[in-house]
Parts: sequence; structure tokens; C-alpha cells
Amino acid sequence: MAILKVAQIGHPILRQQARTVPLEELRTPGFQAFIDSMIETMRDAAGAGLAATQVHEPVQVCVMEVKDNPRYPYKPNIPLTILVNPVLTPLSETKFENFEGCLSVPDLRGIVRRHVELRVQALDRLGEPIDRIVRGITAGTFQHECDHLQGTLFIDRVEDPRTLCTWKEFARQHEARFREHVKEIVEHYGS
Ligand code: NI
Repeated sequence: MAILKVAQIGHPILRQQARTVPLEELRTPGFQAFIDSMIETMRDAAGAGLAATQVHEPVQVCVMEVKDNPRYPYKPNIPLTILVNPVLTPLSETKFENFEGCLSVPDLRGIVRRHVELRVQALDRLGEPIDRIVRGITAGTFQHECDHLQGTLFIDRVEDPRTLCTWKEFARQHEARFREHVKEIVEHYGS
């Protein structure tokens, strides 16, 4: 395992469409070690998630975990989740406003509208199928990470650039109101 270097906005790898991972490649020790390194890198950077393109590998893998995250203290916890070749299908047109940040976009946050209910189909790290529904704030995290695998960053989805702010200004200007918004979503959707 190793802590990998996280690509920063401007690096072309972040704009690349990731390729699907064949089962035989996924199950190799080398690929399993790469997944372990992604998990280690995410935890080291206190990210809520990390996509393979962010660590310079254009393969369709993302990892997520939220456990009392200091970068996002209001986020509901997400147990360690590894998605390989994920496909997300929105279950309704209902969206919510999510104030997002990204390890590849230093010191910037902005409001992105995300589907509030999704079907997630993917493989787990061993190649077993995942087919589940995710809702609420957690659905926002899934969409952010899977966007990376298409070469899309959250700033591409910020509809009003006037919502962009530094992390310090987020804490000063927006966090209290956003926490209330998150509370309502969690009460309604459970995560
Ligand atoms: Ni990101």
C-alpha cells in the first residue's frame, strides 16, 4: 500500500474518461493493492471519496467512506464502499442543493444540484455485483465520485458561479445554513 499523489485541477487525467475494468484484471494482486492504496490515500487526505482518475489511473474505480469526517462534519456516515464499473440511474427528477468540494480542486466549494435518489449498479472489489439504492446526501457523494470517472468535476456542474467560495468563507458565510439544509434532507431521506 502507498499514499498516492492526488491530481490537481488542470491535470489532463482529471478530464479523461476512465475505462471499464475486466474481472480478470480486477482480481489480480496488483489491482487489489491499487484499491488498498486508494483507500489509504482517501483516508490520509480526509476525503469522503476518491476516484481512480484522481490518482492518475483512468480506470472505473471509486472508493468512499465517511466516518465523522473533519472536512465534512455534517455528512452522514458512509461505510467503506468500493465501486468498480459503476452505473448510476436517477430514480426521480428530484434534486437537492449540495455544497461540494474536491481533493482535486483546492480550497474551493460551490453549490451543485444532485439527484436525491439513485440506483447504483457496480461490482465490488472482488467482482461481486452491487445493486442498491442510495438517497440523500450520500447520493450526492456517489454522483460526485462517479462523475470523476467520466472526466467531470463538480465545478462543471455549478450552475451559479457566484456560489463558489473558499473553505474559510464557506465556514463563515454558508455553513450554518447548509447544515440546516442537510438536516432536513437527512430527516427526509435518511442519509
Ligand atoms: Ni472529487
